[in-house]
Amino acid sequence: MTNKMYFIANWKMFGDLRSLNSLDKVIKFSKSKEINKGRLIYCPPYTLISSFLKKFNNCQIDIGAQNCHESQNYGPYTGHVNSHMLKNIGANYVIIGHSENREKGENDQLINLKIRNALKAKLKVIFCVGETLVDKRKKKTNLILAKQIKFGLDKIKDKKNIFIAYEPVWSIGTGIVPKSKNLFETIEFIKSKFKGKSPKVLYGGSVNPNNIKNLKEINNIDGFLIGGASQNSNKFIDIVKKTYS
Ligand code: PGA
Repeated sequence: MTNKMYFIANWKMFGDLRSLNSLDKVIKFSKSKEINKGRLIYCPPYTLISSFLKKFNNCQIDIGAQNCHESQNYGPYTGHVNSHMLKNIGANYVIIGHSENREKGENDQLINLKIRNALKAKLKVIFCVGETLVDKRKKKTNLILAKQIKFGLDKIKDKKNIFIAYEPVWSIGTGIVPKSKNLFETIEFIKSKFKGKSPKVLYGGSVNPNNIKNLKEINNIDGFLIGGASQNSNKFIDIVKKTYS
């Protein structure tokens, strides 16, 4: 575990205005000493971004979106939002390349375009990579990750605003996390793909208050991307507390 850890809540397609009440606990926690060197970032659905921003007005919790359109400009793209629009309302982060969107057809080239334009819009990018169970069984994990990183980050020189979230597809929402030794090695592999300073590498996939005790022992992980458990404020707070205890 590195000292300054990132805890990114990915709410996916969950939450409505009533969910805002549950954030009071997190706000209180974020102002306490227990937060330690942890950094909290919430990525709610688009519909809640403005409300979250108002709610977090007086605290250090940051806001991101869960995806964006690849175009930098306005355009006739029904149902879409671009990175400039996200930055304009106050978001500072965006998740790009999540496997739930790759499954729907987002390829490495599209993801690369999204990342490049999000960086131009001055957003920090949480770039998701990860292998499927089939890839893992065929021992192709490193091959897949190397490809996703190479093409996803093509033509991007300055990587200081990029976070890589390693999310094995077989781990998302299943309750299964990789063995500690394998996870350590995969994170090392990802970091080894960068000449000079590597971007921060987070782990995501079924992180919860029970398995965090083992995960935090893996000392090359810079933080966690948390789905299901982040929608419950008590669990989210517990994950942060246990990381530092
Ligand atoms: P999970 O989701 O924590 O529910 O497995 C993680 C993610 O998809 O980012």
